[in-house]
Amino acid sequence: MTPKGLIIRDALAADLPAVRGLLVETWHATYDGIYGWQRVAEITNAWHSLENLGAQLEREGETFLIALVGEEVIATSSARLERDRAALLTRLYVLPAYQGIGIGRTLLQVTLACFPQAPVARLEVESQNEPAITFYERMGFFLQRQARFDGREDTPNTLMMAKRLFAE
Ligand SMILES: CC(C)(COP(=O)(O)OP(=O)(O)OC[C@H]1O[C@@H](n2cnc3c(N)ncnc32)[C@H](O)[C@@H]1OP(=O)(O)O)[C@@H](O)C(=O)NCCC(=O)NCCS
Repeated sequence: MTPKGLIIRDALAADLPAVRGLLVETWHATYDGIYGWQRVAEITNAWHSLENLGAQLEREGETFLIALVGEEVIATSSARLERDRAALLTRLYVLPAYQGIGIGRTLLQVTLACFPQAPVARLEVESQNEPAITFYERMGFFLQRQARFDGREDTPNTLMMAKRLFAE
């Protein structure tokens, strides 16, 4: 059951150290077994630096949300509108201690609701991240095609998934 007092709101600059901490912890828990600790540390230090997260806050048309229980930031998501009006989910992470109790579902719904004009939602998921693939399937996403994470040979394949949001 989703915890009582769950608050979902836009991330603010003051939240970024906590968001970074959440991302580093959840990335290690999720990807160390796939990429190895060292590579995960490299990626998460680069992508989730306070500078990068701060730049994301400034970007027009981008949704960057956090979920809180009390003072604790327990989940974060981000998404943006693509040229074809698709809502692209760029991040969805729930702290390990809070996974499996409905927070991912709630945060995903709130995130997609920020794009009422989008006919479709898309996302990219690591092809070996089976729990996440199962989660997205439960949320109505289907496999669209295979993609590659960032073109690096030492980075495994990702899958593109998509979900129709409303019939045009
Ligand atoms: C994937 C993730 C966002 C899901 O959020 P969550 O809060 O744990 O999931 P919820 O409790 O909202 O679950 C919603 C549904 O998905 C299913 N689900 C969630 N995690 C699952 C898992 N590990 N295995 C199987 N099913 C799962 C639940 O059973 C539930 O289905 P139901 O209620 O229809 O039976 C979260 O577990 C997470 O942050 N994981 C690590 C990071 C990650 O992989 N993020 C995605 C990167 S693309």
